Amino acid sequence: MLQVTIMKTIIYMNKKNKNPKRRFSIYDCGVLELDRHHSSRKGNLTVIENGIDIPFNVKRSYFLYDVPGGESRGGHAHKELYQLIIAVSGSFSVTLDDSQTKRTFILNHPYQALYVSPGIWRTLDDFSSGAVCLVLASELYDENDYIRTYQEFTKYRKAL
Ligand code: TYD
Repeated sequence: MLQVTIMKTIIYMNKKNKNPKRRFSIYDCGVLELDRHHSSRKGNLTVIENGIDIPFNVKRSYFLYDVPGGESRGGHAHKELYQLIIAVSGSFSVTLDDSQTKRTFILNHPYQALYVSPGIWRTLDDFSSGAVCLVLASELYDENDYIRTYQEFTKYRKAL
């Protein structure tokens, strides 16, 4: 609960200070608890609405699935893109790295979303069988927004 309150405060501050060139750290990222409508008879429903449940407007969503066991995804950073990463089914781990410190999050609940700021290297590992990773992104796909090598990433971070 404390973690959720801290994340809400961080996101509020990020919204007020929306400068994509800010030097975000992994402590600007974290897990948000999403809205949950529970019915013991009919199951659960989670809603995500722009501007209400999440700190940016979603321009694009995509999902990763059928990732073979032992395979990794990600292995890049974004310059301006904000993301929410959700394990809508199964589980996987996400390691965030700001070039100083790394933090690994295990995502295994569809009502939790990992908020990732720009300028953070991420890798996704340990996909369970049947895992589906939903990504909500603040921008349309743009290859120029990617930093694809770790060497380029450390250089980019130093220049921020
Ligand atoms: P990539 O972002 O590298 O995947 P991951 O980080 O999950 O391993 O994307 C894989 C491929 O899909 C790459 O060729 C770019 C393409 N792609 C799109 O065309 N549009 C998109 O929105 C995304 C996310 C990827």
